[in-house]
Amino acid sequence: MRVETPRLEVPLSLDAIRRCLFTYTVGRRLVLHDAVTSTNAVLRELARAGAVEGTVVLAECQTAGRGRAGTAWFSPPGVNVYLSALFRPAIPLASAAPFTFMGSLALVDAIRELGLNPAIKWPNDVLVGGKKVAGVMAELDAREERVRQAILGIGVNVNVGQDVLRAALGDAAGFATSLREARREPIDRNAFAASVLTYLDDWLVVFRDRGAPALLRAWRDFDIVTGRRVEIRSERTVFDGRARGVDEEGCLAVEDAGGRVHRVTTGQLRLLE
Ligand code: BTN
Repeated sequence: MRVETPRLEVPLSLDAIRRCLFTYTVGRRLVLHDAVTSTNAVLRELARAGAVEGTVVLAECQTAGRGRAGTAWFSPPGVNVYLSALFRPAIPLASAAPFTFMGSLALVDAIRELGLNPAIKWPNDVLVGGKKVAGVMAELDAREERVRQAILGIGVNVNVGQDVLRAALGDAAGFATSLREARREPIDRNAFAASVLTYLDDWLVVFRDRGAPALLRAWRDFDIVTGRRVEIRSERTVFDGRARGVDEEGCLAVEDAGGRVHRVTTGQLRLLE
């Protein structure tokens, strides 16, 4: 009889992350916690106290991890990556959505480095094999039409098993996976977190040098939504139609059955085909 020995996860470590980090801004200050309510909430407090741009908060576990559109983000201890990064971009509100695309672009780069083939589901979900492995929650602080502060919260299912996802998420686990499941081997979380942060820094340089259009061009290469039938669910409405593409402000155009084009800025998107 073959006895399975439990796998011991290597803990997250700031030294191990720093060894693989090649950045100018992102990760200028790194903070690691065992457990927090939400890395976004912790970073918001640090930002209020004057934290420098590029401050990153990571945690082994979140007790109240949050996703987009008011959902919860399943954040079990010791297996995944949960991090938030602080930016002070001073950009017009119109560039805010493309700015947040840096999150999914960095994830795509880091995941491609693992030999996988990720795609982006508007606005910032990252899928492998059609299932979600990572998401980005952006929290913006804008005044007088300018973004003063942006917190990008990034959650990645790195080594969590499908059995654990199923136990926590039920049927929704059918739409989720982890990098370990996709690659069929455990992933080094420290190296992966450093890779995401390094690519985030690269995209920040692109944004500063070439602006939102450069991010949009790169993002469109991984967009799996345009051309497909989708359902959009927001606080106020639910409708379906065909996705016609993402405009220069990062909004998704969806044409309904009557030919009316809706400019979608927020909400949950479900692929219908
Ligand atoms: C989504 O796809 O709905 C976005 C998920 C974002 C989850 C991350 S985990 C780190 C950070 N802290 C949170 O509470 N949420 C984000």
